[in-house]
Amino acid sequence: MEYKEFGKTGWKVSKVGFGAWQAGMREWGNDYSLDDVKSAVSTAIENGINFFDTAEAYGDGYSERVLGESLKGHEAFVATKLAGFNVGNPEKSIDRSIRNLGRSIDLYQIHWVPSYYSNLEKTIRVLEGMVKKGKIGHIGVSNFPREMLEKAIHMTKKEEIVSDQLQYSLADRRVENSITEFCKKNRIEVIAWSPLGRGKLTGKYFDSKMPFTASRTMDIGKKGLVPEDLKSALRKISEEKGVSIPKISLRWLVEKGAYPIPGAKNSSQAESNASIFEFQLSESDIKKLDHASDLFLNGEYTNLMPRIVPNFAMKILIKRFL
Ligand SMILES: NC(=O)c1ccc[n+]([C@@H]2O[C@H](COP(=O)([O-])OP(=O)(O)OC[C@H]3O[C@@H](n4cnc5c(N)ncnc54)[C@H](OP(=O)(O)O)[C@@H]3O)[C@@H](O)[C@H]2O)c1
Repeated sequence: MEYKEFGKTGWKVSKVGFGAWQAGMREWGNDYSLDDVKSAVSTAIENGINFFDTAEAYGDGYSERVLGESLKGHEAFVATKLAGFNVGNPEKSIDRSIRNLGRSIDLYQIHWVPSYYSNLEKTIRVLEGMVKKGKIGHIGVSNFPREMLEKAIHMTKKEEIVSDQLQYSLADRRVENSITEFCKKNRIEVIAWSPLGRGKLTGKYFDSKMPFTASRTMDIGKKGLVPEDLKSALRKISEEKGVSIPKISLRWLVEKGAYPIPGAKNSSQAESNASIFEFQLSESDIKKLDHASDLFLNGEYTNLMPRIVPNFAMKILIKRFL
């Protein structure tokens, strides 16, 4: 495993993390069990991963509980998220997440840009107070486009925003248009969610349809397709190096300076996702992958969640779907 300093936190974190949405045991199909997820976490730890991401919204706290139990006795950098509909009462959410995880929170992220009916500045003030109380280590955001990220940075007084967790992969590169460079300049870490495009960048669905799960609803239709150029670039590099396609997709993100947090449903996926430093990607490999995925630069990164939806309605939607 390779590690690097996570922004201004003082933590040395594995360059690839572990996404625990799957541990919520909802919306990812029924082809895996709770034991599978627990052994995925154990395998990740055994393979040197020390960066774990979850959210209060995943399985309505279930993912946090499973992750907390599986991490018991292990030192790890644990990140969770404040659901957008709870921004009005972050302390209550933090206390619940700490109870679920059975430990304090190292990185606390605002899950998505709050609705127009919420006061982001007030939320940030409370989060700064939570750092002082030692309940959370650091403050991060998620799904914040550049403009909103800058606003959040200006709103801080005592702490800094250390990271922005964004959808970023070979199948979605919009963040490169406006956010990644800004983050680099300001020492804000980019955490890449859905780094395997929810499975479509693993190669196993290149010749077949991805199984339909609620978590994949956004990938229906054309957006879900991997272009032939990208398939063949991934296949070629995989054959040349004798490493599997998902490892190449993840390693490309590390080379871009992001922290991928692939979700794993079982031990073998976790083992594969941790072993991405056993080969090198040359500059020419990266250029080929860049070229083959250029069309995914199209469009600005915008907030996925409609900001006009009031918190109570968002709560119903998310509780139903995550
Ligand atoms: N901040 C946000 O708004 C946000 C949004 C989404 C996700 N996230 C975070 O990001 C994490 C990762 O994103 P994600 O889970 O949406 O997508 P992902 O990591 O791109 O894809 C995960 C899926 O890919 C397949 N897979 C994983 N590793 C594999 C391997 N080595 N070989 C073959 N298949 C493999 C599994 O599905 P199958 O076996 O069914 O193919 C798995 O469920 C989440 O767990 C969560 O922590 C955050």
